[in-house]
Order: sequence, then structure tokens, then C-alpha cells
Amino acid sequence: MSSHKPAKNVTLTTLQSIKQQGEKFACLTAYDACFATILSEAGVDVLLVGDSLGMVLQGHDSTLPVTMADMVYHTECVKRGNKRSLLMADLPFMSYSSETQTLENAAALMRAGAHIVKLEGGAWIANTTKLLTERGIPVCAHMGLTPQSVNRIGGFHVQGRNTDQAQLIIEEAQLLQDSGANILLLECVPCELAKTITDKLDIPVIGIGAGPDTTGQIMVLHDVLGVSPITPKFVKNFLLDSENGIPGAIEAYVRAVKEKRFPAKEHWFN
Ligand code: KIV
Repeated sequence: MSSHKPAKNVTLTTLQSIKQQGEKFACLTAYDACFATILSEAGVDVLLVGDSLGMVLQGHDSTLPVTMADMVYHTECVKRGNKRSLLMADLPFMSYSSETQTLENAAALMRAGAHIVKLEGGAWIANTTKLLTERGIPVCAHMGLTPQSVNRIGGFHVQGRNTDQAQLIIEEAQLLQDSGANILLLECVPCELAKTITDKLDIPVIGIGAGPDTTGQIMVLHDVLGVSPITPKFVKNFLLDSENGIPGAIEAYVRAVKEKRFPAKEHWFN
């Protein structure tokens, strides 16, 4: 077994201690049992049942059509294949707009096998974060580019590029930690901003298109395997150089993250 595959189940405590030791952890999206086993056995620490399934599995042009039924179904599939990774599941678009709805939907994902739920937003999800964490449901707050708000943002663009925007993201990240968030995920922000937030917060920060300094890195599985129709700047196809097919590609991704070789300069925004 490679040194990148801890024998024990990954928990929030594992991720916290990785942060304290200045090390890195690797995350990938997973949507079915078969890939969940491959990823988990290859040493991926966090499996995200992402609402990106609306785009990569269902063929939509955004994550907005994804339903709670979709998320519960795929979370159950991933749970059956998962061997040791922390299982995170997305609350989809408009599934956390009232307190009752949020509690019912987060509970459905936890019953389906999630260990933590992820929701998108800034200050406006602070009360929701408090509501869930006080009731024993861990929360990952997703900031920066939040795809569920693509229509308000006006496209899939890098966020936090000017000083006012960046300052707001820093303040809201702190607020979400103070409200009980267990993990922060930053998507498509300049690497300097991601570093500032990672250094400032006590909780682990996961990045995608956010540079090399976050505690964890995440990618969409289809991007790592080079089967997505579009290839954003922050994506690397690990299947190209694999000598052991898909398991080899996933192990190479995990190694590259943990040895701080991925992301490289060409994958981040300044
Ligand atoms: O849904 C998803 O796959 C995500 C990742 C892009 C972080 O949120």
C-alpha cells in the first residue's frame, strides 16, 4: 500500500490535523459505487457527490436542474462503494431556502450516507450553517465562484479579483467559520486571496482553481480523466501519463497533491 493511503477512515479530525501539520489532502467528485471504490482505494481523502453531476452526468449547461432526489440517489451509490474516504454531498440549488426545508434535505443526505453537507454562499448562509452544525450536521461552505448563482454572477468567472470583492470574501469566510462551518471550499479565486484566507482560518480550506496554498485540492473526476467537453485553466488530465489506467491516474493525482506538485503555476489565477 502506498504511503498516500492512510489505513483509517478519514474524518474531519484527520483533515484538521493535516492542516495543523502543514500537509495537503486530496478530494475528487464521485457519483457512483464503482468509482467511489477506485478513488477511495487510491487514497482520495474526500469524495464529493457534487451537483456538478447535473453537467457531467446529465448533460445540463448548469447545476440548477439537479434535484434532491438526484443527490440522495448518487450519495447512496457512492456510500456503497466508499472504503475509507470522508463523504461530502451537495445541497442542490434551492434546497436550503427555509429552515425546515434545509433541515429535512440535509438530514436526507446524511441518511443516504453523507458525513458532511456542502452549500454555496457567503454571509447569507451563516444562519443556515449555525442551524445545521448545532444539530450535528457538519457543513462545508462553498465560496468564490458559486455555480448555483451563475445567472447572478453572469458566467463561470474568477471571483475576488478586485480589492473590495476580495475583502468581502475574506470577511464572509471568517463569518462562516465563526458560524460553525467545518470546511471552506474556494472555487476560482486568485491564489493570493486563497492563501490569505487559508492562513487566517483555523478550519481546512479546499481549493479548485485557487492555487497551491489551500489545505486540500478538489477536481471534478471527469476533468482528471480528460473526458469533460471543456477544459478550464485549472484542470489537468492525469490519465494521459498513467501506466495503470484509471486507478493509476487517480493515484498520480493524489500523489501530486500531497507532494505539492499540483496545482502548478499554469493551473492558477493571479
Ligand atoms: O459540484 C461540484 O462538483 C463542486 C466542485 C466543483 C467543487 O462543487
